[in-house]
Amino acid sequence: MSDHHCHLPGEHCDHDHGVSLVPPPLSLYVHLPWCVRKCPYCDFNSHAGKGELPFDAYIDALIRDLDQDLPLVWGRVVNSVFFGGGTPSLFPPEAIDRFLQAASARLRFAPNLEVTLETNPGTAEHGRFDRYRAAGVNRISFGIQTFNDDALKRLGRIHDSGEAERAVKLAQDAGYDNFNIDLMYALPEQTLAQAEHDLERAFALQPTHVSHYQLTLEPNTVFFARPPQGIPDDDAAWDIQEHCQRMLADAGYAQYEVSAYARPGRQSAHNLNYWRFGDYLGIGAGAHGKISSGAEQHVLRRWKHKHPQTYMDTAGTAASIGGDDVIDAARLPFEYMLNLLRLHEGFALKDFESRTGLERQVIAEPLRTAVERGWMTLDAERAVPTELGRRFTNDVVELFLA
Ligand SMILES: C[S@@+](CC[C@H](N)C(=O)[O-])C[C@H]1O[C@@H](n2cnc3c(N)ncnc32)[C@H](O)[C@@H]1O
Ligand code: SF4
Repeated sequence: MSDHHCHLPGEHCDHDHGVSLVPPPLSLYVHLPWCVRKCPYCDFNSHAGKGELPFDAYIDALIRDLDQDLPLVWGRVVNSVFFGGGTPSLFPPEAIDRFLQAASARLRFAPNLEVTLETNPGTAEHGRFDRYRAAGVNRISFGIQTFNDDALKRLGRIHDSGEAERAVKLAQDAGYDNFNIDLMYALPEQTLAQAEHDLERAFALQPTHVSHYQLTLEPNTVFFARPPQGIPDDDAAWDIQEHCQRMLADAGYAQYEVSAYARPGRQSAHNLNYWRFGDYLGIGAGAHGKISSGAEQHVLRRWKHKHPQTYMDTAGTAASIGGDDVIDAARLPFEYMLNLLRLHEGFALKDFESRTGLERQVIAEPLRTAVERGWMTLDAERAVPTELGRRFTNDVVELFLA
């Protein structure tokens, strides 16, 4: 690097900084699309499984899919694997093991690879966790949502609170100490005291990570078509959120993203990589990937066919690719900010340059506006969203639309 100091955002500079796009850390996302039952609030690419599920055929398809994507990432190290869904814990450990073995024969896995498996507590059988562990899964993410049994029924969940606690204990018995609990708040008729009680029951299980999501009514869901009664209004939801943020902090879970809280050193490496605008391969029905190419100096988004059967029929061929889209340079700052502004840590200006291939001057103007409005702080090296900025991310991000 040169030693001149002309790179404050907004300052004119005639030097050639030679900014170039350098491929960032790489993750692998694997989508497993089936659930026991479709929850009425859920808009993920998840399908109620009917009869025997074709686990083996699906794993074969995943491997063909991975083979097809390999040329995009030759020689690069993979730092995390995330089995998401759907309900990955419906897949038998042998299937997960077969996929991970095939993947490790094709990719360079980092020595400290994080491997997460999303688990619905209603699918946790005795003995399964030991075998997931033997297969290489070292982190579990439990979809618990709430410990209130009436609320669980209204959410269409297949488990009650007792089963959720038993599932966590089974995983702990199998040696899992690194696990996440997903909770949702602003549930129908939920009081502040109930949301508080959910966190207390979660803390008692000693998770290393808590994801605390506000229930949203997503288009194309049953809840959107027929909203349940008693959903807390914005003010009430805000009260719950603020109160819960304090409880999480007091219990030693530091918030590092809009909905993510972790014990020290226990942030989700996989999700952090998304939010830092890292790269990821997306394997499986409807999976999305984002891959940077140093040679091409561009960022490619690629997604796969959504429907599980069509996906299985076409995996490994061009027909399985739902789309390939090189992100337009004019749109890169917006896409970068969409992710980075979720993070409490913000971003280094040099990372903006290496991950987009664009000069920092490109965002000098909107950054200055964001600072003026009290949405961000900025020094020579870093831009960090303020609490206000994090509350109004949509407005902040809009500044970066070309
Ligand atoms: C793919 S699911 C996780 C695993 C598993 N399928 C389960 O539900 O137990 C990811 C998480 O997203 C959250 N989620 C799903 N739909 C949501 C919605 N409409 N609003 C807020 N959070 C939602 C839930 O907390 C859920 O656990
Ligand atoms: S919330 Fe989880 S279990 Fe429910 S339908 Fe969505 S992916 Fe499946």
